[in-house]
Amino acid sequence: MPYLRRIDFLPLTRPVIGLEEIEEIIDSIKLGWITTGPKSARFEEELQCYNGIPYCLVMNSATTAQEIALQVLGLKPGDEVITTPMTWASTLNTIVLQGGVPVLVDIERKTLNIDPAKIEAAITPKTVGIIPIHLTGLPAPMNAIWDIAEKHGLWVVEDAAQAMGACYQGIKIGANPRSVMSVYSFHPNKNLTTGEGGCIALHQEQYVNRVKRLRFHGIEKDAWKRFAEDGSPHTEVMEPGRKANFMDIQAAIGLHQIKKLDAFNERRGILFRRYLEGLSGIDGLLLPWEGDQDSRHCYHLFVLRILPEIVGMDRDAFVQALRDENIGTGIHYRPAHIHSYYREYYAQNPGALPPGGLPECEWSGERLLSLPLWPGMMEDDQDQVIEAVRQVISQ
Ligand SMILES: Cc1ncc(COP(=O)(O)O)c(C=O)c1O
Repeated sequence: MPYLRRIDFLPLTRPVIGLEEIEEIIDSIKLGWITTGPKSARFEEELQCYNGIPYCLVMNSATTAQEIALQVLGLKPGDEVITTPMTWASTLNTIVLQGGVPVLVDIERKTLNIDPAKIEAAITPKTVGIIPIHLTGLPAPMNAIWDIAEKHGLWVVEDAAQAMGACYQGIKIGANPRSVMSVYSFHPNKNLTTGEGGCIALHQEQYVNRVKRLRFHGIEKDAWKRFAEDGSPHTEVMEPGRKANFMDIQAAIGLHQIKKLDAFNERRGILFRRYLEGLSGIDGLLLPWEGDQDSRHCYHLFVLRILPEIVGMDRDAFVQALRDENIGTGIHYRPAHIHSYYREYYAQNPGALPPGGLPECEWSGERLLSLPLWPGMMEDDQDQVIEAVRQVISQ
């Protein structure tokens, strides 16, 4: 029986788009330049400036960004890349699609991020790189990861899809050149959205032209300039590339979102701490860690873990009970190696998964759920979530 049952459904998240974004889209439409153009170039400059990174190259998604990053780094069939399965499928898919092997390492229970103490045991002569994920917007322990990577001559590409605005040791995620590249997502549920979209952040100029051409048919120059007043209509295809360019109507949203990002993240932080306070002292819940000076959260997600051994109810029943209250939740994530394709894949590649499995990923994967959180969420709504969680558990 529901206790409070909200009249309207409270979603897990919702993009916060203002009049400024809407007017900027209209401006792009009136200008007649809606695909890749001057606003996309300006958005790249804003990203570079915000993150303190020399090159931010935008495209259609973080998934494509990671695929291109791996291609530019020369990932070959059989190369091994160390990562965790506690992520969105794209982190593994992009490796497998290029013939690479995602070698899985367990996470730390406290952070849900890769456990650096377990990385070295996974390194073999075939290992070429490490992809840590800043899950929920909490930075992974990068110093330990970089030390291991440098000791073994591996590259590091950060999956920063959820980490726009998060900082590691005082600088933005992606801004430390010890990682060769980082990848951001601008999907609608992310801290900064452009509808869909993603970006490769990098430090070395040598990769810039290759990334640019791989995101647009393999054409050598900034293709959008072909149709500009001072452009030349000729094209030169240097290699097969993707059609993954970013549109000015996406940049129109991003140009305003980036100005609001710090305020969005501050508001997310307030709501995150209200959850911590409102849910403290409940037996049977493991609340998320807020990070510290070294790892400054951007509060993308509030992920709690429900302990069925104490609550007497498993995660899926708990999700359903909140659903009965008209409250939406998310699962970030079901570990990738549990999905049917990867079950089969690791059965055939047993060396890529530790013999005892990944007990921490599996433990958390069965217990975690995300509560509604976005900068426009009102305190009253949040109080109802807190009350619903308390009621469901006390039942
Ligand atoms: C950790 C992580 N990596 C990668 C992605 C992929 O991002 P996109 O949807 O922009 O391709 C996501 C998206 O949810 C994500 O959460």
